[in-house]
Amino acid sequence: MKILILGVNGFIGHHLTNRILADTDWSVYGMDLADDRLGKTLNNPRFHFIEGDIAINREWIEYHVKKCDVVMPLVAIATPKLYVEDPISVYNLDFEMNLNIVRHCVKYHKRVLFPSTSEVYGACADPEFKEDESFLVVGPIQKERWIYSCCKQLLDRVIYAYGTRGHLDFTLFRPFNWVGPRLDSLDVAKEGSSRVVTQFIAELLMGRPINLVDGGLQKRCFTYVDDGISALMKILENKDDACKHQIINIGNPYNEASVKELATLLKKIFMEHPEHKKDGAYSEIREVPSESYYGKGYQDIYTRKPSIEKARKLLGWEPKVGLEDSLRMTLYSFLEENKGAIC
Ligand code: UGA
Repeated sequence: MKILILGVNGFIGHHLTNRILADTDWSVYGMDLADDRLGKTLNNPRFHFIEGDIAINREWIEYHVKKCDVVMPLVAIATPKLYVEDPISVYNLDFEMNLNIVRHCVKYHKRVLFPSTSEVYGACADPEFKEDESFLVVGPIQKERWIYSCCKQLLDRVIYAYGTRGHLDFTLFRPFNWVGPRLDSLDVAKEGSSRVVTQFIAELLMGRPINLVDGGLQKRCFTYVDDGISALMKILENKDDACKHQIINIGNPYNEASVKELATLLKKIFMEHPEHKKDGAYSEIREVPSESYYGKGYQDIYTRKPSIEKARKLLGWEPKVGLEDSLRMTLYSFLEENKGAIC
């Protein structure tokens, strides 16, 4: 099988590529703006990388959609701070650019595995979000945070419509707060624009305060990236066409924690690390209002738990890595890879 991954140097892209090359005889064709997460993978003869931009290298993309069997468009802005700061770029990249890729898949009859998101459920009140039942709930237009959720939702609907009209073979997958090595770059976290786990790790490393937005009682279910990648591998295998035209949550409902619990746990793990247990002074954990942290356009999601019944049934998949192990492996890998680079 030949797989085209756009955004191959991203968090999901590079972990998935490593697993594909290690466990199968498939080939990966990948494009990204940079290659810093790819390391030795770049030397693998079944990996074909080009440095490029999906907004510019359109001919390369069309040619490779034609050439490959499966397409995974993983390029997107996925950090809430940017939804509020630059909603137009979120729309251009996450919706328009990705729609172009989807249309190539329609034109050349290619299977697309598209990353939807846990964010499409928005402020849904269900105790567990179900792919085929839950309502997708967003706030008013002035709360610009929701532009990401809306872009992704509309693309989900466009892909679904192409699929049910017989023009596209698709699977939509919805990651729920995946964490793991090389999640976001620490440089981005230095500016305060990262997702929560990288942001807290960066604060611990720099000895800066950890900010609990609006008190930190909001909850997420953190999913270790290796578990998520195992689910994606099963979707790629697509035994008996089980995933055709399906929407599948990929998350770990057992790893639910409030942001406050997350901060306390990460700080404890940091303080236990052999190189930091004698630091003496550590980041304080403090509360900040969302308006000063993100701006007026922000609105939060208070609970977000996936139902994984469909993933269990269609993929025979179950997440295995617990919360503390997930955070320890994530934090320790950041410490290892950034020795001396920050502080
Ligand atoms: C994320 C992003 O939208 C996407 O990466 C993705 O689609 C989705 O969730 C997912 O991974 O499932 P969210 O979980 O809200 O959304 O993003 P984070 O930036 O990781 O924030 C999580 C929570 O921590 C939010 O309540 C936020 O207010 C809080 N937070 C964040 C803090 O309390 N302090 C910080 O310094 C940063």
